[in-house]
Amino acid sequence: MRTIDWGESAGDAGASGRGAVVIVDQTVLPHEVRLLTLTDVDDLVDAIRRLAVRGAPALGAAGALGVLLAVRQGRAEGWSHDEVAKAIDRVRHARPTAVNLAWGVDRVAARLADGDAAIEAEARAVLDEDVAANRAMGDRGADVLDGLCAAPRHGGGLRLHTHCNAGALACVEYGTALGVVRAVHARGRLDRVYADETRPLLQGARLTAWELDQMGADYRVVVDGAGPSLIARGMVDAVVVGSDRIAANGDVANKIGTYPLALAAARAGVPFVVAAPESTVDAATPDGAAIEIEDRGDHEVVAWQGRQVAPAGARAVNPAFDVTPADLVTAIVTEARVVRPAAGERPA
Ligand code: MRU
Repeated sequence: MRTIDWGESAGDAGASGRGAVVIVDQTVLPHEVRLLTLTDVDDLVDAIRRLAVRGAPALGAAGALGVLLAVRQGRAEGWSHDEVAKAIDRVRHARPTAVNLAWGVDRVAARLADGDAAIEAEARAVLDEDVAANRAMGDRGADVLDGLCAAPRHGGGLRLHTHCNAGALACVEYGTALGVVRAVHARGRLDRVYADETRPLLQGARLTAWELDQMGADYRVVVDGAGPSLIARGMVDAVVVGSDRIAANGDVANKIGTYPLALAAARAGVPFVVAAPESTVDAATPDGAAIEIEDRGDHEVVAWQGRQVAPAGARAVNPAFDVTPADLVTAIVTEARVVRPAAGERPA
């Protein structure tokens, strides 16, 4: 099953018959696998904001399909060109940090003048290419780890540490960082995965653990604060994470809590590997300081599932992402190449 798809081909075109964006609702996993059929652009924007669809490549797909949905909804409801453009803009700006969202929107919006068939073909191509890119990056990433970790610390296989969810759920299928894990596992080279729980929304405990479970991989969920210490204690052969935006100099934005892992990995001489598609490399952003970091609401930190866990009135700071400086990044693996920022190479 794809994490995100266009509904017509799935026979799930929505009540209006105008087509729909169909997503796996990531807010209810792992307890329930629920599909949401979105026939309204503003429902898609809402789904992006509340992380029902999330993860940089999946957001790229949401952006691409969002343009198609805006065109279809606009036609069904008699919107002007201006109204369609505004709807597309709402999708483009639903979340700021993952460059893939704007990339997906812009790629399909560039075909607006070419007619419906071209728009739909471009949107579908974004999804198909994501699947192919992830498989290529998974194999290349497994090769890179083979080279970097020739003598795993625990004999039989690799012990990998990951953060947040960079799996099939963060993409259309397969996954980026978890795609690398998948490829290592398929080669019989995986010993264990440490999955950070990833506060405050627990993408690691809820989503990565669920995917690892389905994969049949040995894994342990750890609290975010334990990661650097596990690395320092020699329990980890390599850290493998995804990214939401890679600046031209190789600085890497990813889920908050990634940077401490990179610091600990550098200190311990453990490789820190980033797996991401080329669409995550943002040549227009010179360095990490230029990346807009999404600030999310206090409620995600001071409450859990609607129940207050901090004192009433407690305030929070809730940055959703951090930036790992290029000099801490051993390798960036894409579908096309390997870049070694710590050795002075630049992705753009
Ligand atoms: O806030 P989220 O869940 O969208 O954050 C996702 C991440 O930080 C992922 O690690 C990143 O998008 C890479 S996904 C392949």
